[in-house]
Amino acid sequence: MNWFISMMSSTIGRKLIMALTGLFLILFLVVHLSGNLQLLKNDGGESFNTYAQFMGHNPLIKVVSIGNFFFILLHIVYALLLTLQNRKARPVGYLSETTKTSNWNSRNMGILGTIILIFLVVHLQNFWFKMKFGYVPLDDMGYKDIYMETKEAFSQWWLVALYVVSMVFLASHLAHGFQSAFQTLGLNHKKYTPAIQFIGKAFAIIVPLLFAIIPVMMFFNLSF
Ligand code: HEM
Repeated sequence: MNWFISMMSSTIGRKLIMALTGLFLILFLVVHLSGNLQLLKNDGGESFNTYAQFMGHNPLIKVVSIGNFFFILLHIVYALLLTLQNRKARPVGYLSETTKTSNWNSRNMGILGTIILIFLVVHLQNFWFKMKFGYVPLDDMGYKDIYMETKEAFSQWWLVALYVVSMVFLASHLAHGFQSAFQTLGLNHKKYTPAIQFIGKAFAIIVPLLFAIIPVMMFFNLSF
């Protein structure tokens, strides 16, 4: 047990936790996006409400959901620990060659993460909290009409703008985070690294773009 505690308190252990929790959250984003895309179906919310009902009542999903919040927390706590550790090692910031040459995203992961956290608090308060603890009218199937709640929320231009801007920050965070996680896991190979970097960049553009399209299309009453 001692070896585990000291491993998890070492720099490499902390980076490993960041990488593993980050990859889990990336997976969550894919599942969450595929569910949310049903908001764009031209069926008055039937598919989306059925999906939300299933997600809200399946015992396995409930466990995954608790894990999800735990991993978000772990990701934040370890990001803070690593930042404090780096500050301690180098209390006065200076412009090294690496700082000058490393890209903006990698140097500002903390700021990007904080902005995403603020987005997440607003987002959870708007949807998750309302769904779990608030009053949501039922639809024709007797399910909570979260589609109508979402439609109402995205009829406010400022909320749509907030989502679109936040997705730009999410894209920047993912652009560095994806390939950084693979690097930490030691999956660095002359042959595969360019492919991982390409997939990471494509993921960082496509996923936030699709997330951003949802509120915009709902605002303009567009569907497929
Ligand atoms: C168009 C964009 C989005 C829409 C319409 C949307 C919609 C929703 C809804 C309706 C819920 C409540 C589900 C329920 O409790 O049954 C939810 C939960 C959640 N959303 Fe989103 N979401 C969006 C984007 C995002 C993004 C970009 C993130 C992360 C950066 C995110 C993170 C979460 C989390 C962590 C939960 C709680 C999930 C759980 O219970 O495990 N969402 N979202």
